[in-house]
Order: sequence, then C-alpha cells, then structure tokens
Amino acid sequence: MNTKEALKNYPGGNYISTLDDMEPVEGKRVFVRVDFNTPIKDGVVTDNTRIKAALPTLEFLLNQGARVICASHLGRPKGMVKEELSLEPVAQELGKLLGKDTVFSHEHYGMAVKNETRELRKGHVLVIENLRFDPGEEKNSGDFAGRLAHLADLYVNDAFGTCHRAHASVDALARLFEKRFCGRLLEKEIAALGTIMHNPERPMTAVLGGAKVSDKIKVVETLSQKCSKIFIGGAMAYTFLRALKVETGKSMIENDMVGTCAKMLERAEKNKCKIYLPVDHLLADSFSEPGEAIVSDNAHIPSEKMAFDIGPKTIELYTRELTGSRTVFWNGPMGVFEKPPYDHGTMAVAKAIAELDAPIKICGGGDSVAALNKSGLADQFTHISTGGGASLEMLEGKPMPGIEALKIYK
Ligand code: 3PG
Repeated sequence: MNTKEALKNYPGGNYISTLDDMEPVEGKRVFVRVDFNTPIKDGVVTDNTRIKAALPTLEFLLNQGARVICASHLGRPKGMVKEELSLEPVAQELGKLLGKDTVFSHEHYGMAVKNETRELRKGHVLVIENLRFDPGEEKNSGDFAGRLAHLADLYVNDAFGTCHRAHASVDALARLFEKRFCGRLLEKEIAALGTIMHNPERPMTAVLGGAKVSDKIKVVETLSQKCSKIFIGGAMAYTFLRALKVETGKSMIENDMVGTCAKMLERAEKNKCKIYLPVDHLLADSFSEPGEAIVSDNAHIPSEKMAFDIGPKTIELYTRELTGSRTVFWNGPMGVFEKPPYDHGTMAVAKAIAELDAPIKICGGGDSVAALNKSGLADQFTHISTGGGASLEMLEGKPMPGIEALKIYK
C-alpha cells in the first residue's frame, strides 16, 4: 500500500491534502513547519536526523522554485529568548544538506522579515528563529498565528514530532490557510503508525521499554488490543514484575502504578495478548556506581541490587518468541543503554528485530531510535519514527492537533 492510500485509512485522512495535490508553487511563499528540535553542542548540530527527514518536502518545493519559510521550535525556552536555543546553527546545517545558503531571520514577524520573504530568491529557504521564543507559540495564540500567516501564501506541516502539541504554528496557523498540506515526512509517519493502529499485518507484536510505566501504560493498553504478544523491558518491567509479587530489590518502581499493571496484565490475557516480562536481569549496585554487571539467577532481584538491563535468558526468550511476527513495533530501551554493558539487551533486541523476516518493522521514536542508530541496524527497519511523544500519542489513539488542523471538510 502506498502512503497516500494508507493516509486514507487514518480517521479523516481523506480530508488531508498532500504535496501531490498542490498546484505549481513557483514563486509562491510556502510556510513549512518542520521539527528541527535537534541536539546542539557548542553551536553545532550533533544529530541531523530530523533535518534530513524534512529534506524530501523541502526539496520538492525548492525544485519547483518556491520560496520556503522554514519554522521550528528547539528545546523548551518557555516564551523567552535563550541564545543557546537559537535555530541559527540548524539553519546552517540545513544549508549544508541542501547544498545552498539559507537566510536566517532573528524575527518571527514584522515588516523586515516579511520583506525578506518577498526578496527571497526562488528555490531558496529562509529559516525563522525558534518559535518558542515567543510565548504565543505554546499558548496557541491566534494573534501570533495571524502574524506568522502574513509571511506566506501556503502552509505545509511536516513536523510529525510536534503534531501532538496544540501550539500556534501547528494548530491555529494551519487553520488560517485555505491551502494547507501534509508534508512528505508527516504523510509517511501517518501511513506507518496509522497502519499499526488501523490495518496491521498480523500477527503483530510490540517490544516496549523505557523508564516509566506511567508514560507507556496507555500504549500497552491499545497495543494489547491489537498485538498477540508484547515484550516488556526497561525499568517499566520492574513495576509489572512487582504486580506479580516478584522481588524487585532496589530497582526503580512506580508504587502507585503496581495495581494498574496488575489489572493491565489481566486485561491483556482477556484480549488474548501474551505479555512477556524479563525472566532474568543484569544487576548493578547503584545508579551512580553501577559496578560490574552480575546476571541474576531468575526474575527475582536480590534486596541490595537493582536491575539495569534484561539478562541473557530474557534476550533468548524474546528473540525466539518474536519469530513469526509480521508486524513489529518497538519503542523504548530494554535497559540503561547509555551505560555499557547495560546496553546489551537493547542492542540484542535491535538485532533480533533487524534479522526478523517480517514485512513491517517500525521503531517508534525517542531513545530507541538513538539506540538503533548506535547499533548500525537502522536500515533493516521499514520505518523509524521521528516522533517521541508524538508516536506514543498516536498509538494511544488520541487525535493529534497538528493532523486535525490539516483536515479540510469540503
Ligand atoms: C520532540 O522532541 O519530541 C518534539 O520536538 C516535541 O518536543 P516537546 O516535547 O518539547 O514539545
């Protein structure tokens, strides 16, 4: 199925226009909301994945001679100007990737930047400053959106990672444009994650990890209605284990979630979804001084230890039980992957999914993407989401403000 057809499977997706529905845009000023929330160190972009992900949309417009106004947030400056969160280094990196200079504006609106958009050469890009420097962005202010709207003739949203936020540049602003479109990246993300939600090839399995069960419980709930198996790792597994009265030692637990986990396990069983929990662990002494990794004998964690990763028997079990899956969704590391050797479980899961002969293998954002990139196996996945919180909210089945705002009911 191509992405355009898959988009139609998404609720209301047939009311969303894509770049293929666009009339020629030569000379037109196109506002493109991208998600360039990327890591920057000493004024240099250290991971340009998200910038690269926006290139298909930007190149499509630039090749037609559009004047592109690119806008994004960076970090959480809370409505204040914070120099270290300026988008200027990102504009430079974008220029390098596009092979042409970009113009950067410190302003979001006003006569000067408006004139700059008019003077911009066809086929060139103007990047405006971090949208969150203005308090109107996070408040979804109509006034701020109205001012931004003067910069362009058309609107494109390609910022999947931000679509779960009802912020001015993705919500109020989009609605001010009669001609508003979904960019290539957003289209691809909706198609991939929407397929999991609405039309997966079965059997579908999910591998879920990460620190907090409270962040993921709704995703476990929705996926348990669609998957035949869910494999759990990371610190969230310990709260589930506690719900089964397994000893969890000094491991990180969310006490107020133990009851919820117990009920979740019961519901999953009713849904005929088998939830797998670690059967052994890599143990450490403390978070600040993990010491040498020790493998536990079984799922129980001794009282003076904390678990930092899934153990070898769990890796073997998860790898074996993944076999036969047609669709696999992975989100969240299996352990403290930034502190080797506690990256072992996460890397093993990445490898197990990469080697799996399944037509759909999706990695859903955040830390698991960083781990996957580190593993060098990313090209063996069919889709790697650029959204962290966004991909999870989409899988929770929540309407996403940025996607809703693109729908035009004729
Ligand atoms: C992300 O990095 O997940 C997105 O850019 C959204 O950022 P936020 O969580 O600060 O809204």
